[in-house]
Amino acid sequence: MIVVGVGGMGSAAAYHLAARGQRVLALEQHTLAHGFGSSHGLTRIIRLAYFEDPSYVPLLRRAFALWRALGEGMDEPLLHVTGGLDVGRAGSVVFEGSRRSCVEHGLPHEVLDAGQLAARFPGWTPPSDALAVYQPDAGFLTPERCILAHAAAAQAHGAIIHTGERLRSYTAAHGSVRVETDRGVYTAAQLVLTAGPWMADVAPVLAPVLVAERQMLGWFDVSDHAAFTPAAFPVFVFEAEEGTFYGFPEYDVPGFKIGKYHHRAEAVHPDRMDRRCTPDDEHVLREAVTRYFPGADGALRSSAACLFTNTPDEHFIIDRAPDAPEVLLVSPCSGHGFKFCSVIGEVCADLVVDGRTAHDISRFRLSRFAL
Ligand code: BEZ
Repeated sequence: MIVVGVGGMGSAAAYHLAARGQRVLALEQHTLAHGFGSSHGLTRIIRLAYFEDPSYVPLLRRAFALWRALGEGMDEPLLHVTGGLDVGRAGSVVFEGSRRSCVEHGLPHEVLDAGQLAARFPGWTPPSDALAVYQPDAGFLTPERCILAHAAAAQAHGAIIHTGERLRSYTAAHGSVRVETDRGVYTAAQLVLTAGPWMADVAPVLAPVLVAERQMLGWFDVSDHAAFTPAAFPVFVFEAEEGTFYGFPEYDVPGFKIGKYHHRAEAVHPDRMDRRCTPDDEHVLREAVTRYFPGADGALRSSAACLFTNTPDEHFIIDRAPDAPEVLLVSPCSGHGFKFCSVIGEVCADLVVDGRTAHDISRFRLSRFAL
């Protein structure tokens, strides 16, 4: 089997395939855990109370279990539990969606009003009409370490990983795929494409439904460190009047990390986007920091650009290529996929080895789009 793109999804796919006894060649155009795609930034939210749709919750339960298994025995866990807050007004997508997932799946949770939120989590200065779902199992993953862990586990099962090798083209026919890169030619029975924001390049059939979008993350200096530790400050998604923000406690590097979904709505190509944080970028994030997290309204310590690869309905794509059943298309994930990498790796192995999976991935079929 050949896997193209060894980021969050590809490293997990390589591991699960190799662990099932498959011969795996995984090709990555950059280095492992690079910062040019959608699988970096030191921390990534993982949460069970999925406001996007309750149907994701069973996949999330399995994702949590697989991340824990992958991190077993490591000095530092891959998954840090902080609890999670999904905040918005009554009727908002984030608050109502999160509560619905909790109720439908019997997840432990509490509903807090603005006063309770501020009293319990002093980093917050929420609007007076805010409501929050607090779900204690949420937290963050350390994405670069997750990729390295999956890659090492894949290699321990015999997978071969080439870095600095870029896909040029592939042709599939009669149960075989021929893959040409800038360093060689390979053949395999199946090809798994996990190319994140490069998917429209490597699988042009998807181009009509994909938009790669520039994102910016900022780490802001904190004056009140005690309020922003992982023990005191849950990860959050907050649907505010300025847009929907997400954030993290201080971890690993100084600063409170915050981003805004669909930051400045800029469609880009991953090889040609501006990765600097401009004053306009900083303004988008600082507006929320000043108003809702004043204890973190210090200097912008650092920033990172990354990408969402959006589908029209912002749900994932996991399906066979319409023109080539030997090719499995995995990702894009519309910005919210990293937490699922562990279980999507398992799904890839199910589909490649058994031709089917017990996980419900019906939502991710390509047939929902007119291609
Ligand atoms: C998430 O929690 O799923 C998420 C956070 C930030 C950006 C996109 C998704």
